[in-house]
Amino acid sequence: MGTRMKVEGFKYHGTNKVYYAYYKDGKWDEGKLDSSLHFEISAMAVALHYGQSVFEGLKAYRAKDGRTLLFRPDANAKRLQNSCERLLMPKVPVEMFLDAVHKVVEANKDLVPSYESKGTLYIRPFVIGTETVMGVRSSNEFLFCIVATPVGNYFKDGFKPIDLTTTPYDRAAPNGLGHVKSGANYAASLYPKHLAKQQGFDDCLYLDPKTHTKVDETGATNIIAIKDNMFITPQSKSILPSITNNSLQTIAEKMLGMEVIRRAIDVTELSTFDEVGACGTAAVITPISKIHDNGVNYEFKSYEKLHKLYDLIQSIQFGDIKEDFGWVIEV
Ligand code: PLP
Ligand code: COI
Repeated sequence: MGTRMKVEGFKYHGTNKVYYAYYKDGKWDEGKLDSSLHFEISAMAVALHYGQSVFEGLKAYRAKDGRTLLFRPDANAKRLQNSCERLLMPKVPVEMFLDAVHKVVEANKDLVPSYESKGTLYIRPFVIGTETVMGVRSSNEFLFCIVATPVGNYFKDGFKPIDLTTTPYDRAAPNGLGHVKSGANYAASLYPKHLAKQQGFDDCLYLDPKTHTKVDETGATNIIAIKDNMFITPQSKSILPSITNNSLQTIAEKMLGMEVIRRAIDVTELSTFDEVGACGTAAVITPISKIHDNGVNYEFKSYEKLHKLYDLIQSIQFGDIKEDFGWVIEV
């Protein structure tokens, strides 16, 4: 069961149906599915000029027995609401979000890759300001849209380590948008990532924008570290609260008996960690082999505990093991 298409990398691989709902005169319409990936928009839409745009990312998984599973879609619904609030956009009600995700997955069920391929159906909900506006102000009209497409791995195939470098650039300001999933953060990350790639790294690691001494995150993942029996992850106002990281913390504590520590992490502390990884919906857990910072290389040779965490979260997401956390939902 599942798409026969070969799904390689984190790319757009086609879709059957896209969900569209419009907000006007203070309310959302009932929403509908459409075959087109393209929609018409005003050349003066607020999202195009002033970046009033937020999004989410979640996946549908094909279980061994053919069922289609979602992982914590309610958490994405709530995070989208936080993002909308920060960008002065109307919140998509949680029920409406969940219903729309179900509709999109149902309509694209045949595109969910096979269990054996370990590919997934990536689901990308987003909200944008669509009103024709000249001056800088919030839109009064919005589009809530969801696209779903099969994807493979975000960085490299399988559980393969990547190299990162810190960057003098910031993706977010100290009291800015780092904690919400707004398009602006990703726009800010394009140039630093390009420079990191030019230097032979897979991505860059952002430091806290205020002091440039603490580890924040990459442009698309949180950072997690292992030291002895401790699971350590940065606490910062300018990073996205990752649903994957939050789930891994629960798995580490409840299933592996690890101590979970959330605190600021000085970049020089990297030398004391046994294992370091990048985590997120797209990246799952990607181990890190090297982090370059200002002429210093921090190298990590072991991925044992990260591998255990990776196996556990994937086993839950693909329905191989039952969990008691209420995370997995069948479509
Ligand atoms: N940090 C950033 C900047 C991201 O874009 C993402 C991806 O969504 C994450 C962290 C990981 O978040 P999640 O695990 O909810 O996908
Ligand atoms: C995700 O992991 O879902 C993301 O949104 C990260 C990236 C692809 C932007």
